[in-house]
Amino acid sequence: MSNESLANLLKEERRFAPPAGLAAEANVTAEAYERAKADRLGFWAEQARRLSWATEPTETLDWSNPPFAKWFADGKLNVAYNCVDRHVENGLGDRVALHFEGEPGDSRSITYAELQREVSRAANALLELGVQAGDRVAIYLPMIPEAVVSMLACARIGAPHSLVFGGFSADALATRINDADARVVITADGGYRRGKPSALKPAVDEALTRPGTENVRSVLVVRRTGQEGIAWTEGRDVWWHELVERQSDQHTPEAFDAEHPLFILYTSGTTGKPKGILHTTGGYLTQASYTHHAVFDLKPETDVFWCTADVGWVTGHSYIVYGPLSNGATEVLYEGTPDSPHQGRWWEIVQKYGVTILYTAPTAIRAAMKWGDDIPAKFDLSSLRILGSVGEPINPEAWVWYRKHIGADTTPVVDTWWQTETGTMMISPLPGVTETKPGSAQVPLPGISATVVDDDGNEVPNGHGGYLILTEPWPSMLRTIWGDDQRYLDTYWSRFEGRYFAGDGAKKDEDGDIWLLGRVDDVMLVSGHNISTTEVESALVSHPKVAEAAVVGATDPQTTQAICAFVILRSGVDAEAEGLTEELRAHVAKQLGPIAKPKRILPVAELPKTRSGKIMRRLLRDVAENRTLGDVTTLTDSSVMDLIQAKLPATP
Ligand code: WT7
Repeated sequence: MSNESLANLLKEERRFAPPAGLAAEANVTAEAYERAKADRLGFWAEQARRLSWATEPTETLDWSNPPFAKWFADGKLNVAYNCVDRHVENGLGDRVALHFEGEPGDSRSITYAELQREVSRAANALLELGVQAGDRVAIYLPMIPEAVVSMLACARIGAPHSLVFGGFSADALATRINDADARVVITADGGYRRGKPSALKPAVDEALTRPGTENVRSVLVVRRTGQEGIAWTEGRDVWWHELVERQSDQHTPEAFDAEHPLFILYTSGTTGKPKGILHTTGGYLTQASYTHHAVFDLKPETDVFWCTADVGWVTGHSYIVYGPLSNGATEVLYEGTPDSPHQGRWWEIVQKYGVTILYTAPTAIRAAMKWGDDIPAKFDLSSLRILGSVGEPINPEAWVWYRKHIGADTTPVVDTWWQTETGTMMISPLPGVTETKPGSAQVPLPGISATVVDDDGNEVPNGHGGYLILTEPWPSMLRTIWGDDQRYLDTYWSRFEGRYFAGDGAKKDEDGDIWLLGRVDDVMLVSGHNISTTEVESALVSHPKVAEAAVVGATDPQTTQAICAFVILRSGVDAEAEGLTEELRAHVAKQLGPIAKPKRILPVAELPKTRSGKIMRRLLRDVAENRTLGDVTTLTDSSVMDLIQAKLPATP
């Protein structure tokens, strides 16, 4: 990328100051940045004291063998004790930990005291199955309380868990079981998805016929849907309600080394075999707890927190399980989809539980925008005081819509940048400190060092773009790729010697604030200019007729790449209307300059998305370049691609 690459094309001038009341009472103030800047390691050592250690650490960071970090290495602690027992010991046993809302409408509130008993029983059950500290346990469950209980039970006995998202196939599950060499799988008969039971156990049965999964000796099965005809392997399969329920609800947690593995979580990446991202105990929990406290300004006595992610993604690990529970939060756990049985389901849940802090993804916000403003308007959302976003760059229009229609035009929106690899949040505004800018994650959190560099690794001046890098180790960083140290070095630490390469394009604005521009693979080269897909998408979405957009660069003989845009129109807009494409092209040209004007614009009904909500631009590029489609197995709905292809003229 050239020095003026990803130049500041999109000018976003709107600014939102923190509400005065929130700023006055904020958990974290501007002083934290100063404190961390003066003594970064001292700052993290202080944050580690948020946790209860069986042995207090005296060392903070051991970076003697970079990039293999050890944080708080001589400390010992138990993660489940920190997330559950200590709150009960502090007299908070009656506080609700989880408000579970099942998709069919069943609900159940679980206090910290109940959670302690449940986790203890599950830990005892795993011990009875022969699970020892260090053994890996695969968890393939829907969004039900047993998922949280299972994770904490594993943490309690020092058995690293490996969650596999319930929407993944038997193949994906088998690969992950094999790579982690899991000994036990925890699953359910099924879960509810769009009003119907959807089976899970058959995928486990199938996965366990694959080579490399032979070491799985037990499958622990939660009964959720009560489906008939579940296949059963005697001696291997055991019902949760038979094994777990008869266990003692007492279990004494053992303290583990701060660097004991806590979990492995696979990221698919764009190519190659999935990477098993390894996270460990003390540093991870410190940063999960601190960021949840700082970025959401959590007041555990009064707040009701809701992170809408699935526990199978890192967002669920850090902001459903470890961050909120280590902070003694009361939170919502919702099993289903946002539009089942109706498009106001989420807002109904916010109203029902008085949710005060909501954390979700841009894809969900854009879907809600598309469904219409009148839907959230039917519910009482006045309890909300902070809104968060994560997962991909949030278009300024979606950001502003979120604040206006969900946040009554008063709540701060915090756009949090991080990755499975970073473990927890890295770049985000602080709701009581930062004057926010729609579409920007803005500033590294206190204690985090990030910047934007050019091709040669030189920091770019304000107003310029390049690659996002992290310049200092952080407590919740991945420790390696499971079983593949070399790949860890090659993927993250080789592009810019000694510094972590995140794989994201970014720019610094005139104030030095960071704007994320998507994966570097998603930057287009048009007539010698680097243009980010995110910026063109944001420009399209800022047009009143467009609900969502996905932009790709298609090989072009004249311009190297040509911009090709797939757009979902807002309800009621006629896709065939004369002049529509011209109007949209002109709009982009006005927003970003003529160079960014899409060559082709195709209205479509849906966009291909992965199950974590990321647009699969790779497939759209295949379409735009008239190629046969690549792998579609990670799509939520592969028929979307048929619809898109059917819309295309034979030759562009
Ligand atoms: C990639 C990591 C972090 C948990 C969920 C995703 C993109 C994430 C943002 C944001 C712009 C973002 C990046 C990153 N991303 N958050 N706020 N603004 N981009 O975890 O699946 O490991 O994906 O998601 O491209 O590298 P993940």
